[in-house]
Amino acid sequence: MLEYWSIGFQSNFITPLLPSSITPMPADLTRPVGPLVIDIENITKDYVMGEETVRALRGVSLQIHKNEYIAIMGPSGSGKSTLMNMLGCLDTPTSGRYEFNGKNVAEMNDDELAAIRNREIGFVFQTFNLLPRSTSLRNVELPLIYAGIDPDTREEMAVHVLHEVGLGDRMNHKPNELSGGQRQRVAVARALVNKPSIILADEPTGNLDSKTGEEIMALFEDLYQRGNTIILVTHERDIAVHARRTVHLRDGLIETDHAGFIPELDLVALERP
Ligand SMILES: Nc1ncnc2c1ncn2[C@@H]1O[C@H](COP(=O)(O)OP(=O)(O)OP(=O)(O)O)[C@@H](O)[C@H]1O
Ligand SMILES: [Mg+2]
Repeated sequence: MLEYWSIGFQSNFITPLLPSSITPMPADLTRPVGPLVIDIENITKDYVMGEETVRALRGVSLQIHKNEYIAIMGPSGSGKSTLMNMLGCLDTPTSGRYEFNGKNVAEMNDDELAAIRNREIGFVFQTFNLLPRSTSLRNVELPLIYAGIDPDTREEMAVHVLHEVGLGDRMNHKPNELSGGQRQRVAVARALVNKPSIILADEPTGNLDSKTGEEIMALFEDLYQRGNTIILVTHERDIAVHARRTVHLRDGLIETDHAGFIPELDLVALERP
C-alpha cells in the first residue's frame, strides 16, 4: 500500500476553471492525496435476464482517496460502466460493501443518496444523455433543478460554467445544433455545474477527434489540479496517460491496479485473448 502524503490543497469546490493560476504539481506520486472517499469491498453485480445471469462484476475491491485521478480501462463488456454506476450510487450492487466518506451506502436513506448524486458527484455519461429539445443552457441547469436552486441563481451558475468550457456563444443551441465535441462539453459543464468534488466520466472523449479530446482532457487536468477527484473510463491509451493511477478490469474483476500508466502493462492487457 502506498503511503500518501498529505500536504494541503483540499478544496472541496471547483473554483473557476479558466484562467488557471495554479502551477502544476510535480511528480505524480508526490501529489497530495486526501482522505478515503470511496471504499468498496468485494462488490458484485448480477443482471438476471430470464434464464441467464450476467455476472457483470464478480468481486471488485477499490479504495479511492480525495484528489486521485484514475483511469479505468478494460475490454468492452468487462464491467467498467457497471462499476461507474455503483460508484455514483446510481445502481445497487448484488453483494459487497460500499462506503462513501466513511458511511455505508446500503444504509443511506433516499435523501442522503440524492444528496450524494446531486452535490458530491458529477457524471459525464458514455452517451452524453443530453435532453434533445433543450438548449445547452437548460441542459446544464438540470442538476440545479434537482438540487432545488432558484431559477435566477440556476441560470447564472449555468452561464458561468458554459463560459468555462468555452461554450459562451452556444448557450441557446440544442444538442443537434452542436458538434460532437461541443455536445460533450455541454455534458461536462452539466457535470460540473454543482461544483461536485468527484467527477465520474464514462468515455468522456469517445467519438471525439483527438484535438477536441485533448481539450476535454485539459479541463479534467485543471479540475484535478484544483483538488477534485477524477475517475474516468477510457479505451484510449492517449487519454489514460493523463491519469495518475490505472485500474484494468477484465470479466468483472480487477486485473491490475497501479500508479501512473505503464504502456507495456497496457499492451499485455490489450493483447490477451
Ligand atoms: N442492464 C443490463 N442488463 C443486463 N446485462 C447488462 C446490463 N448492463 C450491462 N450488462 C452486461 O454486463 C456486462 C458489463 O457491461 P458494462 O456496460 O459494464 O461494460 P463496459 O465495460 O462498460 O463495456 P463498454 O466498453 O462496451 O462500454 C456486459 O456483458 C453487459 O452486456
Ligand atoms: Mg461502458
